[in-house]
Amino acid sequence: MRMRHARPIILPATVFVVVMMAVLPGCRKDPVVYAGEEAGWPTPADLDLPPGVLALLGMPDMPLDNPLTVEGIALGRRLFYEKALSDTQTMSCASCHRQGNAFSDPRAFSVGTDGRVGTRNSMTLANLAWGDRMFWDGRVHGLEAQAHDPVVDPLEMNNSWPVVEQRLNADAEYRQLFRQAFGTTEIDSTLVTHALAQFIRTMTSFDSPFDRYWFGGDTTAMSEEALNGLALFTSQGKCAGCHTLGLFTDNAFRNNGLDLVVTDPGLGAVTGDPGDLGRFKVPTLRNIAVTAPYMHDSRFATLEEVLGHYNGGVHMASPTVDPLMDFWGMNPAPFSPNEIIDLMAFLHSLTDETFLLDPRFAEP
Ligand code: HEC
Ligand code: HEC
Repeated sequence: MRMRHARPIILPATVFVVVMMAVLPGCRKDPVVYAGEEAGWPTPADLDLPPGVLALLGMPDMPLDNPLTVEGIALGRRLFYEKALSDTQTMSCASCHRQGNAFSDPRAFSVGTDGRVGTRNSMTLANLAWGDRMFWDGRVHGLEAQAHDPVVDPLEMNNSWPVVEQRLNADAEYRQLFRQAFGTTEIDSTLVTHALAQFIRTMTSFDSPFDRYWFGGDTTAMSEEALNGLALFTSQGKCAGCHTLGLFTDNAFRNNGLDLVVTDPGLGAVTGDPGDLGRFKVPTLRNIAVTAPYMHDSRFATLEEVLGHYNGGVHMASPTVDPLMDFWGMNPAPFSPNEIIDLMAFLHSLTDETFLLDPRFAEP
């Protein structure tokens, strides 16, 4: 297992480099990752989490080879908004991951640089530090590996890594920023994806009315309807079986009964297992009121339509439907009109205005 919390590894790695430099003079010429250390770079960083969140979720595991640093995060933020990553220099990550929409895309399908349209809805980027398998179908593990793909995806940035590396290496400011973050001016795809992953790990969202109530003990933070909705969400509705409180996803891949006949294989195309057909990543419901449209294929334009699915639209005969959907087998339309109003109020209480406006995540 290569994941562990970042802090403890920084010292041993430093000691190792110092020892190697003392023992082996030949090593001195190598581009050492900690070369910036004399100047104080890079500066170790950690996530600042509310105590209640920390108690429930713990600090996320960080990859051993990419600990969070102040300089790495700042560089990642810049790269997230960098249009030179795309072939035509017109598109950045933020083109399809907009802060006002909790870093999702209000368009049903994002449009690539050459006008081609994908088949899946862009995903919100909140609290991914706790995630492992990325994308609706879980086809890559980890944020570093994920960040590699949009650059070369013909439906997205439609570029090649050598072109990106060449452009960034030609920019003196970027060379300096990479030196501060990683101790080298040799910019390559690995370091670019490492910086992007660091930035995305800092994008935490835990300041919604729900959080102020649940973790902060503020009994006035949620309306009465929203509190009723929370009770339904966790009990009768069984929603919290998959959208677990805290992250509002269990990070598993499940079929919530959208289709009788599977139209997009989802996880099944990745694993080749027929039992995985039509299974998709359980999406977080954080900031759900601002991340329309909904589901992997954007089939629902509004939250009312989503609740319509969970109130009479579930296909229990779908071959891979999740066992946690069994409740709907007995209660195809479990919610009264008033309960739908309560659930709506609850879903709206997951909007975190601080996150949507946080200057740390805005274009630098
Ligand atoms: C053209 C639009 C577009 C661009 C540009 C784009 N993305 Fe995405 N992003 C998407 C879509 C669509 C998905 C879902 C794709 C899928 O599941 O097949 C996605 C998924 C993701 C995910 C997975 C989230 C999760 O919960 O699994 C991450 C992380 C991500 N993008 C980060 C980035 C980064 C970093 C960049 C820039 C290097 C970027 N994206 C550029 C459209 C885009
Ligand atoms: C068996 C697990 C499971 C249960 C139970 C469940 N969901 Fe979901 N939910 C999912 C999955 C999986 C998706 C994504 C499906 C897809 O796109 O193919 C989803 C999608 C959603 C979405 C759209 C999210 C987005 O970003 O597009 C909302 C909103 C939602 N669920 C709310 C609820 C509510 C409210 C309940 C209870 C009434 C509930 N869910 C019960 C698994 C579940």
